This record gives sequence, structure tokens and C-alpha cells, in this order.
Amino acid sequence: MNKELKKYENIIKELMGSKRFKHSVNVAEMSVSLAKKFGVDQDKAYIAGILHDCQKEADKDIMLKEAKESGYYIDPVELECFKLWHGPAAAYYVKEKLKIEDKDILNAIRFHTVGRADMSALEKIVFLADMVSAERSYPDVEKYREAVMKDLNNGMFLTLRWSILKTAGLGNTIPLCTLEGYNFYAPYKNEDDFVFQK
Ligand SMILES: [Fe+2]
Ligand SMILES: [Fe+2]
Repeated sequence: MNKELKKYENIIKELMGSKRFKHSVNVAEMSVSLAKKFGVDQDKAYIAGILHDCQKEADKDIMLKEAKESGYYIDPVELECFKLWHGPAAAYYVKEKLKIEDKDILNAIRFHTVGRADMSALEKIVFLADMVSAERSYPDVEKYREAVMKDLNNGMFLTLRWSILKTAGLGNTIPLCTLEGYNFYAPYKNEDDFVFQK
């Protein structure tokens, strides 16, 4: 990896607390591992991974304003849930403040919260690295990690399923692009996976 890119670590260190900084480094490292494994540009994976949560600790009003000005369509369900604003807000920040124009990096950052159908390899990598990063400790995380390392599409199916079940379990609504992503990746499911064996 290009050592120059380490500068982004210093930039985001200023934007967040130490716990989230550690998470961001873990996501960047996991993104690079996945990029290596699946033949994707490792520099782009590092940049998108390290920056994906760069606006998560921004003021809520700023986050919403940036999300709305990002140029991306924001689903009404996303607009209702402030936890989802940091995806498009980060894409805005990275483009406008850090002057990164690469559309694939911007899309990977924008959709890391919600997913969507037919994602690029880089988008899937950042989404999945965020779901299974080293500090995550939800039940079966090692099994999800293992599945993701084997197959990005099945990994998308499994993690979107996990996320939808969790959100619906709380009685919350689900953005359309997440449901479209789930339906898109369902044909890639592995019937022998651990989630079907309970
Ligand atoms: Fe995030
Ligand atoms: Fe994250």
C-alpha cells in the first residue's frame, strides 16, 4: 500500500474519539485484506475504509445538511433515522473537503450504512469490512467473518439478512435500497451456511 495514504489516519483521528478511530483503522485493514484476496485496488480500499465513518461524530444538523447536499438520493426511511445520515454526509465531506473525486470510493462510503443492489466490489468490501471488523463481537461474528472472506456476494446476503432481522426485531423500518440489496444477493446464498442450520 502507498505509505502516503497514512495521512488519512491523521485526518480522521481529529474527527472522532479513540474508540471510533480504532474501528476505522480496523475497517481499513479488513478492507485491504479483502481487496488483496479479491483482486481489488488496495489503495482505494484503504481510503474508503479509513474514511467511511468520518462524519459519524459530526453535529446532527451538519450531518443532515451534508447528507442532503451530497447529491445522492436519500430514502425517506434514511431521513427518519439519524444513525444513517453519516453515510451520505461522509461522502459529501470526502468529496468537498478532502477533494477525493473517485466515484467508487464515494459510493462505497455513501452506501456503507445501508447497502444496495448490484454493488461494486469496492462497495461490498467496505460494507462487509464494517460488518465484520476486528473489534465486532456479536454472536457468530467469526462465522460471518469466515463467510465474507470466502465469497463477497454470499457475505452481502448474510450480513444484509443479519441487519434486516436485527432492525425488524426492534420494530424499525428498513430503507428500500437495503431490501433491494437483500433480494439482489439472495440468489448467491449458500444453503449449507450456518444461518440455516439452527
Ligand atoms: Fe458507519
Ligand atoms: Fe463503521
